[in-house]
Amino acid sequence: MSKFPKDFLWGGAVAAHQLEGGWLEDGKGPSVADVLTAGAAGQPREIHDEVRDGVYYPNHEAVDFYHHYKEDIQLFKEMGLKVFRTSIYWARIFPNGDEKEPNEAGLQFYDDLFDELLANGIEPVITLTHFEMPLHLAKTYGGFKNRKVVDFFVKFAETVFERYQDKVKYWMTFNEINNMMDYTNPIFLWTNAGVTVEDDENPEEVMYTAAHHLVLASALAVAKGKAINPEFKIGNMISHVPIYPNNANPANIMLSEEAMRLRYFFPDIQVRGYYPQYALKHFEREGFNIPILEGDAEILANGTVDYIGFSYYMSNAVDIDNQTTHDEANVHGQVPYQVENEYLESSDWGWTVDPMGLRITLNRLWDRYQLPLFIVENGLGAYDEISADGQIHDDYRMDYMTKHIEQMAIAVNYDGVQLMGYTPWGIIDLVSFTSGQMSKRYGMIYVDRDDKGQGSFKRMKKDSFAWYQKVIATNGEDL
Ligand code: BG6
Repeated sequence: MSKFPKDFLWGGAVAAHQLEGGWLEDGKGPSVADVLTAGAAGQPREIHDEVRDGVYYPNHEAVDFYHHYKEDIQLFKEMGLKVFRTSIYWARIFPNGDEKEPNEAGLQFYDDLFDELLANGIEPVITLTHFEMPLHLAKTYGGFKNRKVVDFFVKFAETVFERYQDKVKYWMTFNEINNMMDYTNPIFLWTNAGVTVEDDENPEEVMYTAAHHLVLASALAVAKGKAINPEFKIGNMISHVPIYPNNANPANIMLSEEAMRLRYFFPDIQVRGYYPQYALKHFEREGFNIPILEGDAEILANGTVDYIGFSYYMSNAVDIDNQTTHDEANVHGQVPYQVENEYLESSDWGWTVDPMGLRITLNRLWDRYQLPLFIVENGLGAYDEISADGQIHDDYRMDYMTKHIEQMAIAVNYDGVQLMGYTPWGIIDLVSFTSGQMSKRYGMIYVDRDDKGQGSFKRMKKDSFAWYQKVIATNGEDL
């Protein structure tokens, strides 16, 4: 018996802004990602309010998929991908975000891309938006702080649902919608919601205001999508990083429970269709005035998702004895109370490697929601080197993925979790989101491009390419 269902969706994942380049081609407008500079491990990317002369913005050219997609799809086909997860660049379709009519050239690009995928036997899996809001919406309207932006997003969603209703079946609304729970790190509110926090604002209250508008936008989009094509499967997309208690101290168990609410807040609403009590209590305690209007409860109830898409890269641990504030913790990219987990190793970027955490995550999400799960990101960001034989021997990446796929198989076969598919992150090298680097590579296809924007864009197979090809061909039997 195969470890995975016979129609299991093996694939690969990317996002438009990290991959496409062509940043002002065919009418595309600048997005919130286009004003992010390059950072490095431990050095955050800067957010500029406009594109400045003489500054290198890695997403402008990315890996030039805009001009290479046909050759890349041939490689995906050779690999055996059944699905390809990408996003539709919002600023290609509505360059400023508030236009009355969409940009036809932008729509045509995705028609061509989806046709090319389908002609090669690969089904597109589409995230409506993956950190790609038009910059104009952030600057002029304040992003999702402003309820008007909900309407602009819903119009964008409706436009692409209509246009691609016969080409795309699997959709997700907002990528890693819960990133912005980390509201003290400006990049997350900016990329999720186009929001910056002013000095006289309470950042947490701003975050929950934008969050309310995001969940409304997501629910309205789901309802529109279902009306356009009832066959659509529309999911949410969350970043899932389990936070473990450091030991059996009950205070630590409770601390981890509370920390996990930061992970569950969005899916609790998107799956159940209403706010969880712990959040309402929190708003009350803090005196937050979240603009939940009459009729919003109905919108949320009518736009629940069909499946849960999530990314899984790592886990964290917390201990009540390590009393750090949110701000202090953030300096190190951590959650409050975070401690090192002595049982786990970490990547060069400090992300723990915890395959069993994926099984734990699958079980927790399945038990809590009883909806099909889809792992739409997982992978290892690593420095790859071209060896003397001209090849890239990325055993570390195969090892990482083997261990994660083994845990998936246990979750499916032993625990009985319903898992739809697996699309590892960065199937082809692309610009890192958090660091802006090219050298933090995830791909099984190498792209000749460096951190300064030099390189030929030439593609090359890494050792992991043939390995993943075999994994897909044997439906996960031969790892
Ligand atoms: C997720 C995002 O956070 O993880 C991707 O959805 C991102 O956009 C991926 O690229 C890996 O993160 P990073 O920072 O290593 O690129």
